[in-house]
Amino acid sequence: MKNLFITGGAGFIGSNFIRFILETEKSVRIFNLDALTYAGSTENLNDLPDPERHIFIMGDICNRTLLDQLLIDNKIDWIVHFAAETHVDRSILGPDQFIRTNINGTFTLLEAAKDYWIKTGKNDTFRFHHISSDEVFGSLGPEDPPWTETCSYAPNSPYAASKAAGDHLVRAYGSTYGLPYLLTNCSNNYGPRQFPEKLIPLMILSALEGKPLPIYGDGKQIREWLYVEDHCKAVWKVLQQSPIGESYNIGGNNQPTNLEIVRILCTILDELVPDSAFIPHQQLISFVSDRPGHDRRYALETQKIKDRIGWQPDESLVSGLNKTVQWYLSHPGWVESIKKQQDYQGWLSRNYQQRSA
Ligand code: NAD
Ligand code: TYD
Repeated sequence: MKNLFITGGAGFIGSNFIRFILETEKSVRIFNLDALTYAGSTENLNDLPDPERHIFIMGDICNRTLLDQLLIDNKIDWIVHFAAETHVDRSILGPDQFIRTNINGTFTLLEAAKDYWIKTGKNDTFRFHHISSDEVFGSLGPEDPPWTETCSYAPNSPYAASKAAGDHLVRAYGSTYGLPYLLTNCSNNYGPRQFPEKLIPLMILSALEGKPLPIYGDGKQIREWLYVEDHCKAVWKVLQQSPIGESYNIGGNNQPTNLEIVRILCTILDELVPDSAFIPHQQLISFVSDRPGHDRRYALETQKIKDRIGWQPDESLVSGLNKTVQWYLSHPGWVESIKKQQDYQGWLSRNYQQRSA
């Protein structure tokens, strides 16, 4: 049995990763440390396959004593670090928590991992896998080539800057102390269990209720979208196969505008909910004032992970979006419990009431 320590496993990608590992790997036991912030929920961990191999610990990555104890007591072989504050709009309205978790938290985890790795004899199979984002690279113009792994960082939002700082610390722990790390920078994810403050689930749930679909600015910003399960497969393959000290871009190889994404979602909803009172759902699209410092375009060059690790996405954008809409339609219990959350309605009014049409 290998012991895998996951941070942030009650969030969107972490919980999908846990599900994927429990389903596909029989000899891995998971220790999942999550602080259960507004973005994390034990609802995301319901009905896990083979749940005895998943141990949940509620706690903070800034708690060094807890980290030391968990690593030693559970003889951890690998760490995969998902925990973060992740929403750009929240980082604009309140950056403090992003600095605390994404920078101080990553630093605390690195310190604990380094000391554990040294104390346990610098085991050369130990890994610290840091999960990061394409947003650290900044923003591209329409004709710019996609980012490669060696492009310099130029983050624009407090979220992206805090992730960039975390990445730099991870790399520095590799160079300075020899910590065996891996780093992956992934494009925008979507799929089951994403908190409905992010574009895709927000649009699905708002459209179902006949609420406005708020598009920031002109809606021509471009993101590269990846179905979450493809991200999980990529992380696992990198963890198993890569030499240490490498970083990889992980992306979906598509370039839709935000407006195109929302239109595709509306068309899928028109088909899947034919008796809706809001058909055509596109009538709900509403342009609102832009996000400050809004990055125009993200695009990743993913040749390295394809050539060296043998990974590429299985899901196309349309098949992934279809699966995602179907998941939200078939999980009303999950949707209701998240919507009821104290913070959620408050967030919607904080972020959207101040935006002019
Ligand atoms: P999420 O916001 O859905 O989940 C984050 C999880 O971290 C939550 O369960 C939360 O409770 C937990 N957490 C937050 N602060 C914590 C702390 N101090 N201690 C312990 N747990 C804490 O995020 P996500 O979308 O699943 O993203 C996971 C990781 O992937 C993040 O590092 C993010 O930067 C990265 N990433 C996300 C995307 C995306 O599109 N969602 C794309 C690329 C990279
Ligand atoms: P988001 O899901 O917040 O991810 P990120 O900012 O990390 O890319 O947003 C995706 C894109 O959608 C981004 O360009 C901002 C835009 N957007 C809207 O137009 N309206 C919205 O209500 C939200 C949440 C996002």
